[in-house]
Amino acid sequence: MYELLYISQAVVDLTETEMEAFLGRSRERNAQADITGILLHIHDGPVGDEPFRAAFFVQSLEGPQEAVEQTYERIRADMLHTDLTVVHRGQRESRSFAGWRMHLTRMTSEAALALIARESQPDSGPPLRSDNPADTFALLRDPLIARALLVVVADQSR
Ligand SMILES: Cc1cc2nc3c(=O)[nH]c(=O)nc-3n(C[C@H](O)[C@H](O)[C@H](O)COP(=O)(O)O)c2cc1C
Repeated sequence: MYELLYISQAVVDLTETEMEAFLGRSRERNAQADITGILLHIHDGPVGDEPFRAAFFVQSLEGPQEAVEQTYERIRADMLHTDLTVVHRGQRESRSFAGWRMHLTRMTSEAALALIARESQPDSGPPLRSDNPADTFALLRDPLIARALLVVVADQSR
């Protein structure tokens, strides 16, 4: 089993309905390709005249290596996002998101940061805090942090 984990910046902020609409077809394709995974849409609401403050994606694709890489090539070319960074790719013993043809969760960057803080500092210490979404995005370049966040989000959805 092969996994590819990437982060990207959203170009437009899609509503939940719009996200579900484009994911319908993605899920069908993933089912055909034996791919499972999770897509976390981190977004902060509009501020002033800006349509949205920040929006980015964290996605894990797991399945046969060739299918995962081919799917990622298509996703990479998608105009809905930019600045894609693969934070991890490689073999794993088993699927973490079995049963999900692409599970979607949305949360603010603040909520994501709180989960990251909880996972990385379970006991004590000063809470990890920032009101700059770019800080959360930067943290997710660490594969351990990105994976831990996706796993805890998945656990909450079960
Ligand atoms: C954040 C994001 C996640 C996506 N995830 C998937 C996915 O898991 N599987 C998939 O087939 N397409 C996914 N897509 C859609 C692909 O980029 C592409 O638009 C779709 O597969 C249609 O490709 P086609 O026009 O060549 O048929 C995703 C797109 C974005 C922006």
